[in-house]
Amino acid sequence: MTETLFTILYAMVTLGILATACIYSYYFHKLGVGSAPSSARARRAIFAEIQSLGMTAPAIVDMGSGAGGLVRFIARAMPSATVTGLDLSVPAHGLASLRARIFGPRNARFQLMDFNNYDLSKTDIVVTYLPGAILNKLSDHLKTLPKDAVVLCLSYPLPENDWTMYREIRTGNLFEPALYCHRAKA
Ligand SMILES: C[S@@+](CC[C@H](N)C(=O)[O-])C[C@H]1O[C@@H](n2cnc3c(N)ncnc32)[C@H](O)[C@@H]1O
Repeated sequence: MTETLFTILYAMVTLGILATACIYSYYFHKLGVGSAPSSARARRAIFAEIQSLGMTAPAIVDMGSGAGGLVRFIARAMPSATVTGLDLSVPAHGLASLRARIFGPRNARFQLMDFNNYDLSKTDIVVTYLPGAILNKLSDHLKTLPKDAVVLCLSYPLPENDWTMYREIRTGNLFEPALYCHRAKA
């Protein structure tokens, strides 16, 4: 009896892991990027840059928020900010929303949507951790930001012809070597 229960439990756990892996690889192929989270060191570098901007209650958006770790980190460190995470991956969005609902903070929000359709007209700061090919496509939509907005990109910069990179911060990480800080060209 105990052995049968153990076998059933083992089969359920294995199936759960396989199903999760399948769902995540489906979104990886659909969107061209997985939901790997940014590191703690990179998050600290992003937050230090946000703080240095001196905005009192900024509206911050993470384009592709994955499981929501970066959004919750910034929101917790800056309670006056409103931090919104956008993602199209159902499991990543579900996990992010669940964690925010249970553990907070209240100024962290998540929306299941294509970030190319988000209204950026009231956004002060955008953060991204996306590959170059996706960033290049997103660059046009980012032009709808207010003109003094800031775009902070982990690992890959925005195309040079449309954006001024005012700072490049080395993170000391192998996978996210730099944070590229941009403003729109005047
Ligand atoms: C590397 S993860 C970013 C993780 C998160 N920003 C962090 O720092 O922990 C990139 C995310 O972008 C999402 N993504 C890719 N294309 C998207 C799109 N068009 N709209 C919304 N989310 C998208 C993926 O589902 C993935 O979860």
